[in-house]
Amino acid sequence: MIKPQAINEQQVINEQQTKTMDVQQTMSVQQTMGVQQTNLAALLTTTKTNIETFLDQVLPSQNIGHNQLNAAMRYAVMNGGKRIRPALVYATAHCLNIPMEQLTAAAASLELIHCYSLIHDDLPAMDNDDLRRGQPTCHKAFDEATAILAGDALQTMAFTILSDAQLNPFSAEIRIAMVQILANAAGANGMVLGQAEDIYAERGATPSINHRVGYNHAHNIGLAELTMIHQNKTGALLTAAIKLALCANNANSETSARLCNYASNIGLAFQVFDDILDVTTSTEILGKPAGSDQKLGKATFPALLGLDQAQQYAESCYNQALDELAPFDHRADLLRDIAYFFINRRY
Ligand code: IPE
Ligand code: IPE
Ligand code: MG
Ligand code: MG
Ligand code: MG
Repeated sequence: MIKPQAINEQQVINEQQTKTMDVQQTMSVQQTMGVQQTNLAALLTTTKTNIETFLDQVLPSQNIGHNQLNAAMRYAVMNGGKRIRPALVYATAHCLNIPMEQLTAAAASLELIHCYSLIHDDLPAMDNDDLRRGQPTCHKAFDEATAILAGDALQTMAFTILSDAQLNPFSAEIRIAMVQILANAAGANGMVLGQAEDIYAERGATPSINHRVGYNHAHNIGLAELTMIHQNKTGALLTAAIKLALCANNANSETSARLCNYASNIGLAFQVFDDILDVTTSTEILGKPAGSDQKLGKATFPALLGLDQAQQYAESCYNQALDELAPFDHRADLLRDIAYFFINRRY
């Protein structure tokens, strides 16, 4: 596998955790992005600063409204996620020559949907996990009802932001297109569908899902079914990152098709590698419980193929993603670096 660009990941993590970049510095990183070689560390730092500043401003204050609900919403968002989906929005914007900051509201909306999906994913009725991003999960820190409602509220908030002309600088037509992209990716044809398939597969599938995808137990799931689950539960939101940026630009159909194929490959690779990390990495590094998938009898790539083949599968998705980017020049380097990061991250 060819490593596209040296990424000192520990440095990224250290920078994320210890370095508070001031706004001026952040702007200068953004401004130089158009003219000089950039790297993933700078993108992740910029993304984190921009998105967290924006989210801090739009999330409800803990001092107004229902304190518990507002506090739970903030707790589940302002808690150290990698912000990789917003970074993907920005990287696509860079590739398409769109000023990145124009897409901050869209990127933040996507992150809100992701944070809501994590709250619900951790609930006792779903994966029943106690730790998320190194802290007690939302339902542990608050209570189940509050966690469910905080997730609901973050979801609707994403669409409030995306449709708001004061926050999202695009035309009404583009904002509506963005709302559709995010709603489709998040709902019953995307992330929620994938989560349903994941849960039913773990339990032994219900008749309806059994009929639809042709399996009746997690251990009988084949590669095609598992690929579909992963593409829905995780790939759909990652693909939405690319589509949100694409819809802000008059990209030709070949560019759109190639970027969407890139997204679908890295989306799959991301979840395959998440499955691998669940087996290979400690709870301390992951910030979420290691071995959770095995405990629940989840359908995962390591369970289906074994670790080595799962790793090879992730690498083949990475290689296909890079093939899709072959006609693009250096402006796609951030997308290449993100693809590499997806299957080489520590957590
Ligand atoms: C975790 O996503 C959930 C999956 C879709 C595998 P991330 O690994 O992006 O989690 P955070 O946002 O950095 O915590
Ligand atoms: C979750 O997949 C995908 C979501 C839609 C949240 P996982 O259940 O594998 O994510 P983690 O491992 O809990 O982060
Ligand atoms: Mg899950
Ligand atoms: Mg989970
Ligand atoms: Mg997982």
